[in-house]
Amino acid sequence: MSEATEASAQPAKTRRKSPDGASSTSAVLSSYVGNNAPVFRDILKMFVPVGSTVADVTWGKGAFWTGVPDGLYEVKPSDLQMGIDCRDLPYEDGTIDALVLDPPYMEGLFRKDTGHMAGSGTHSAFRERYSNSQATAEVKDAPKWHDAVLDLYFKAGWEAKRVLRNYGIFIVKCQDEVSANRQRLTHIELINEWAEDFYCKDLFVVTRPNKPVVARMLKQEHARKNHSYFLVFVKRNPEFPKRIRPTANEARALGIDNPQPWPDDALLSGGVVADAMGTLF
Ligand SMILES: C[S@@+](CC[C@H](N)C(=O)[O-])C[C@H]1O[C@@H](n2cnc3c(N)ncnc32)[C@H](O)[C@@H]1O
Repeated sequence: MSEATEASAQPAKTRRKSPDGASSTSAVLSSYVGNNAPVFRDILKMFVPVGSTVADVTWGKGAFWTGVPDGLYEVKPSDLQMGIDCRDLPYEDGTIDALVLDPPYMEGLFRKDTGHMAGSGTHSAFRERYSNSQATAEVKDAPKWHDAVLDLYFKAGWEAKRVLRNYGIFIVKCQDEVSANRQRLTHIELINEWAEDFYCKDLFVVTRPNKPVVARMLKQEHARKNHSYFLVFVKRNPEFPKRIRPTANEARALGIDNPQPWPDDALLSGGVVADAMGTLF
């Protein structure tokens, strides 16, 4: 066979398809050093389309929202301090697109008298911020210590399930703790408790930028926690509980088939950090 014939017998080389998308260093990251606001902003930008109805049911001082541009969402703030318990919300079933939950996460904030609550004296601002400085009424046979923390989260989660639409986003802030000298991994306890109703789609770690002071340290048995979590859940469709996202028909029926992204000028942090006062840099 001549060289020319041999060459023409070779299969024609197919051009490799170039992959879609451009390389970027500004991807949203799973762990951050700083405060909550930039992480919360990235979570909303990634998971909650513009125009969604978002209920923040433990609003506190609204600190989560300081990095979110105004006007992107229909925000419904509520808190026990406003007379609305996150376990009994004034919303109709399936009417909320996204729900934010950040209740007191430490067992030290659940005490029957304020004198024994965590964060007394010079730490009262902390206590005010995290629990409204209210003691917890003692109810016979009610869960205590860390189980009281979980009880509030669990009940708030069941209420979130009621008010969220199918495939709605449930954003939960929590921190693990050592209670009665036992390691309690709150984030895992929550993921397990809600697994039937919510798919845990993502997890973010927020690490405190400053070093915590440990009072009266003798022998250290557990690492001092200096990180907390944002968990991002998707409410399952009870008819098709294995689905993790709506089908095209379901999206149409829910009116979410044309999600609006954030405007380009609302930049992602790409792992940007903030100082303890929440200033982004
Ligand atoms: C950790 S703070 C929330 C901080 C808030 N995410 C912010 O950005 O400012 C906890 C809040 O949960 C509220 N809280 C405690 N128990 C509650 C309940 N049963 N229902 C609704 N809010 C509750 C407290 O009043 C407090 O404002």
